[in-house]
Amino acid sequence: MGDEVVISKRMRACSHGGTYSVNPRLVRLDYSSSINPLGAPRKAITAIKTNTSSLAQNYPDPECRGLKKSLSRYLGIDPEWISVGNGAIEVIYWFVQAAFVKGRVVIPAPTFCEYELASEKAGAEVTFVPLHDLELEADQVIEKARGADAVFLCNPNNPTGILATKQIMKILENVDSSTRILLDECFIELADNPNANTMIEQISEFDNLVILRSLTKSFGLAGLRVGYGVCNPALAKKLSANKIPWNVNGLAQVAGVAALLERRYLSKARTLVKKERKFLHDNIDKLKSFRPLRSDSNYFLVHLQGRNSTQFRDRLLKKTGVLVRDCSTFTGMGTQYIRLAVKMHRENMLLLKALEAFDHND
Ligand SMILES: Cc1ncc(COP(=O)(O)O)c(C=O)c1O
Repeated sequence: MGDEVVISKRMRACSHGGTYSVNPRLVRLDYSSSINPLGAPRKAITAIKTNTSSLAQNYPDPECRGLKKSLSRYLGIDPEWISVGNGAIEVIYWFVQAAFVKGRVVIPAPTFCEYELASEKAGAEVTFVPLHDLELEADQVIEKARGADAVFLCNPNNPTGILATKQIMKILENVDSSTRILLDECFIELADNPNANTMIEQISEFDNLVILRSLTKSFGLAGLRVGYGVCNPALAKKLSANKIPWNVNGLAQVAGVAALLERRYLSKARTLVKKERKFLHDNIDKLKSFRPLRSDSNYFLVHLQGRNSTQFRDRLLKKTGVLVRDCSTFTGMGTQYIRLAVKMHRENMLLLKALEAFDHND
């Protein structure tokens, strides 16, 4: 059984970061949500402003045809392969509820907690496969996936920020095609070398694969709620069988279309993330009380060297207004890690100042 952990039909805590995870009035700087540091693209905001009065009073296109066309161009994939949801979160729940998940699912740990929460709500048993030194164990996942309904994978993983593309390819090639795989790439456009790490180009090779994407992180549109799944049209039909009509509002649809035109915006964000991640990593590493971990993405873990992460988050917030992600609610993560987003240089300086205050005075 190795390091396997089975949690049977028992609801676990699943919480998120963000301003509303604490008293919002205390938050001056949110380092708990890992959104594109450049914010929403200007074209998306202009599209919202220009279209507000016409779209507010009309029903949106229930099929999101314009947005699917834009996503199709953006991904180089036919529109029938794309299912648009109210955020990626809706697609996760579709995946679970479309009868893809009944008996047992396999989830590496730690990872994004909604996979386990949605599966447990559907009555499934979850087999966790612990990461080893925060790396994905492909062979373990393949072994545990035998007879499972579904496997959930996240690349880059949340909360580690680490890409595991080789291991994921191995899993895709070795898991039986009767087991459905949800591969969450919601952060991949802000990670290093997205084109070399995404499975979008290989999607037609795997009939059991749904790739999950979102405009939340990549295009800084968290409040608008636009996510999508990519899979073959037969699977797509099953995936969105329970979709409610008008699930994506009209302003979100036009903002999405406008955002996808801003190709340079993503490469600019990636350059900034890489530079600022190194800046934060190098400077946090100089402090006694914090050990930053390597990451390929726009967020990274920090080990607190003996401190409790929930208490640390609360004390830092109260004293400095900086909110960090307490990772103790991730299954298998323990109580000594926080996750930090990578933001603009000016904000990162303020974060460092806040951490420094706790290095010397706490
Ligand atoms: C890995 C991962 N996938 C999906 C989501 C949900 O994305 P969305 O805002 O598009 O629903 C999150 C949100 O934090 C996430 O961390």
